[in-house]
Amino acid sequence: MKNVPFFNYPYLFKSREEDFVNIFREVGYRGAYILQKDLRDFEDNLAKFAGTKYAVGLANGTDAIWLALMAAGIGKGDEVIFASHTYIATAASINFVGATPIPADCKSDHMIDPESIKKLITPKTKAILPTQLNGRCCDMDSIMSIAKEHNLIVLEDAAQGLGAKFKGKGVGTFDKGGTISFYPAKNLGSFGDAGGFVTNDKDMYEKVMLLRDHGRNDDGVFVMWGFNSRLDNLQAAFLNYKLGYYSEEIDRRREIANIYNSNLSNIKQLHLPPAPNEDQNYFDVYQNYEIEAENRDQLKEFLKQNGVGTLIQWGGQPVHSITSLGFTGKGLPYTEEMFKKCIMIPMNTALTNEDVLYVCEQINKFYNK
Ligand SMILES: Cc1ncc(COP(=O)(O)O)c(C=O)c1O
Repeated sequence: MKNVPFFNYPYLFKSREEDFVNIFREVGYRGAYILQKDLRDFEDNLAKFAGTKYAVGLANGTDAIWLALMAAGIGKGDEVIFASHTYIATAASINFVGATPIPADCKSDHMIDPESIKKLITPKTKAILPTQLNGRCCDMDSIMSIAKEHNLIVLEDAAQGLGAKFKGKGVGTFDKGGTISFYPAKNLGSFGDAGGFVTNDKDMYEKVMLLRDHGRNDDGVFVMWGFNSRLDNLQAAFLNYKLGYYSEEIDRRREIANIYNSNLSNIKQLHLPPAPNEDQNYFDVYQNYEIEAENRDQLKEFLKQNGVGTLIQWGGQPVHSITSLGFTGKGLPYTEEMFKKCIMIPMNTALTNEDVLYVCEQINKFYNK
C-alpha cells in the first residue's frame, strides 16, 4: 500500500533545504527582520507576477481582507456579498469592519454564482467580495457588470488564487484589488503565517501600506490610525525565492489536474473540477482539487484505509451554515447539496505521477466494488 498524505508539510522545507538555510543565514547575518530590502524586493516581484502596479506584504491573508475592506471605506451599515463556500476569514473580516456579511450561493465550478449575487443586492449593499477559490478566478465579467450596474466595489479574496486568470487578467486586477494568503499549504506557501495585497488602485495601495504599519508614512509621521500587520522580512525573503519558480509549480499542478481529469472522468458518481484546458477563458492554478462524490464519507474512509489523505474544506461547514454566528443555514441550494458531497483529494507539488495514479486507482476501485 502506498502512503499519499493530503499535504506533505516537511516537504515544503526539505524540497530545497540547502537554499532555505542559506537564505536564513544570509538574512540573519544582515540582521534584517522588519521592513527591509527583502520585503521590498518581494513586493516588487509579487506585483510583477500578479500584473498589478502595486503589492503589499502583510502578516496573513485574513488581515489582508479586513485592511483592504477598511481602506475601501467599507464599514457600519454596509452589506458585503461574499460566497458562502469560503473560509470564515472572509466573513469575519467583513464583520470586523462593522459591515454585514451576506452569503451567496455557488455554481457547479464551486465559484460564487452571479445569479445569487443579483438576488441579494439591497440599498445597503456596498461591495462584492468574491473568493477566487481552489486556484480558479471567478467569472469576473458577470461580477463586474453587476457591480457596475449597482455602483458596487469589488474586492477579491484571492487567498487561494495567486496566478489564476480570467480572460487573461490575473486576480487582483479587476477593481479594488486582491488579497493573498501565503499560509504554508497555499500554492505559494511561507514557513508560517504571511499574506499580501495586490492592486492597481493607488489610493488602496497607499492606505493599506499605512494601515499595516501603525498609520506611519515613509517620513515616520503618523498620519492615520493603523495596526501592525507587516510581513516579516525573513518570510518575504523565502517567498521571494519561491516566487522565482512559482510558475513551474503552477504548471505541475495543472499536469496533476490533467491526470486526475483523464483518469476519473469515467466515474459517473463524481463531479470533477474543470480540466486545465477545458475553457480557454480560465487559467486555473489548482490550489485544491475539489470534487463532488456520491457516498463521500465512505469514499473518504476507503481512501484513508488505503493510505490516501483527503480533506473536506472548512471542516465541512460553508459559512452560512454557522448558525452560532447568526447565519440561517438556509437559502443557498447548490452550496447546501454540494457540501454533502465535496471532498478534496491530494494536490501539491510533492506528488509524483505514481502517487496521483495511485489515488485515481483507489477511487476507481471504490466505485467499481
Ligand atoms: C479563501 C480564504 N480566505 C482567507 C484565508 C485566510 O488566510 P490566512 O490563513 O493567511 O489568514 C484563507 C486561508 O486560510 C482562505 O483559503
